[in-house]
Amino acid sequence: MKLRLEKYLVECGVASRRKIKKAIAEGRATVNGLVEVNDATEVEWGIDVITFDGIIPQKKELKYYIMYKVAGYITAMEDMHNRAIVAELLPDFVDKKSVSPVGRLDKDTEGLLLFTSDGDLSYTMTHPDKKMEKTYYVELDREISEEAISALESGVKFDTDYVSLPSKVEYLTPKSIHLTITEGKYRQVKKMLKAVKNKVTYLKRVQFGNLTLDGMNPGDVREISREDIHI
Ligand code: URA
Repeated sequence: MKLRLEKYLVECGVASRRKIKKAIAEGRATVNGLVEVNDATEVEWGIDVITFDGIIPQKKELKYYIMYKVAGYITAMEDMHNRAIVAELLPDFVDKKSVSPVGRLDKDTEGLLLFTSDGDLSYTMTHPDKKMEKTYYVELDREISEEAISALESGVKFDTDYVSLPSKVEYLTPKSIHLTITEGKYRQVKKMLKAVKNKVTYLKRVQFGNLTLDGMNPGDVREISREDIHI
């Protein structure tokens, strides 16, 4: 199957898409022995010989993992201040140098965190235009009213005057709900509940797109395939 030179090099993991486009324009890639400056030139795995900076790069196997994050860890792969980081929760079978978390969860938030070496997928899943659904199990300080539920569903105003997009609320008990949002502003769920004069006491992401924590226990990490992610 033919693909663009730029995509071929992205799949080899030689650099980010943006850097690859620039490098191709600078004449750092060759196709069958000739310098190729057009990133849209079509090439084929196993047929065309591609070099990048003089080396024949190999296709990188892209990896995908679901983590059931526990509280107490910040969403980062390294930290200058020596705080506990989610990278510490990744087992040895994960190549920590090649994967990154897709989006973030607060230190005290638990639940589903996806890790991948697939930069394109990560970009797509976190892009606001994609409106990926994320469902949170939320425990509250005060009983939730019908008015608060309606307000959350239609959109609430943050301290910054930003108004959240419509969301879905599933009432569970007087002090717990499932909240499904399609945006990912910093501390989005906590801000939404604050806007209706309540407070989150426990937060867990239970679903990200079609992915769930089914069959997983706190702290578990499991490998999935690209096909498991429906996007
Ligand atoms: N919203 C929050 O407030 N915190 C999270 O960790 C995720 C969503």
